[in-house]
Amino acid sequence: MKLHPFFTYFGGKYRAAPKYPAPKHNHIVEPFAGSAGYSTRYHDREVTLIEASEEIAGIWDYLIHVSVADVLALPLLEPGQSVDSIAVSQEAKWLIGMWVNPGSSQPKKTLSTWTSNDGCTRLFKFWGAPVRERIASQVDQIRHWQVKLGRYEDLVDPDTTATWFVDPPYQKMGKHYRHGAAQLDFGFLGYVCQSLQGQVIVCENEGADWLPFRHLAHVRSNQANSGRTTSAEVIWTNEIERTESA
Ligand SMILES: C[S@@+](CC[C@H](N)C(=O)[O-])C[C@H]1O[C@@H](n2cnc3c(N)ncnc32)[C@H](O)[C@@H]1O
Repeated sequence: MKLHPFFTYFGGKYRAAPKYPAPKHNHIVEPFAGSAGYSTRYHDREVTLIEASEEIAGIWDYLIHVSVADVLALPLLEPGQSVDSIAVSQEAKWLIGMWVNPGSSQPKKTLSTWTSNDGCTRLFKFWGAPVRERIASQVDQIRHWQVKLGRYEDLVDPDTTATWFVDPPYQKMGKHYRHGAAQLDFGFLGYVCQSLQGQVIVCENEGADWLPFRHLAHVRSNQANSGRTTSAEVIWTNEIERTESA
């Protein structure tokens, strides 16, 4: 079964995931989870998500454990109604909040007037019955996933052999995140990426210089806060390095 995104996130990799190498290991670790676009494409693997944002980690914990019936019972929003006014768990509010302003880096509260009209909420773009039903149809597929709340610096186990999909806030453009590039030591992250066991895939944007990245593709972006429509994605993998030095 092919899964669709559970929510969309600034810089999310669901759309671009097929351009990256396929996982060679049964265990995928995303130390910068966001909306976990890569793992969503390979959801039947063992998946470990690490995420510093309480909201994003909370959404994943909710999705992994919520019943199908509870998703289907989530309320829709009236035009102008705030997510805060609905009687659901905090995690469910965060999930709905990500669908109120898709492609952003944190949940929002209220659908704007134009997005709350029937046409928009009937599409798979904003919080509405189709999105709710699609999420409900998918939650049983990720019961085996696990999510850890905290910083990768504290939670990554360097002895774990896995496919590591490393997609940190962009070094040059990651300013939209609350847990953004300003809080990251990219020199240290580069060292960690080169030390990990297994297959290591690192994502960045053109201009990043903390690993010897190469061009991957121009991909359509879902960057809610910028006017850019394509993003020049670059990649580093430990496999290329090994092949080149072999
Ligand atoms: C570019 S997004 C990941 C996008 C993801 N690949 C997707 O498909 O949606 C980066 C994520 O890393 C999180 N983050 C930032 N600093 C972190 C840290 N030190 N440890 C763990 N997560 C962090 C951010 O909150 C954000 O959710």
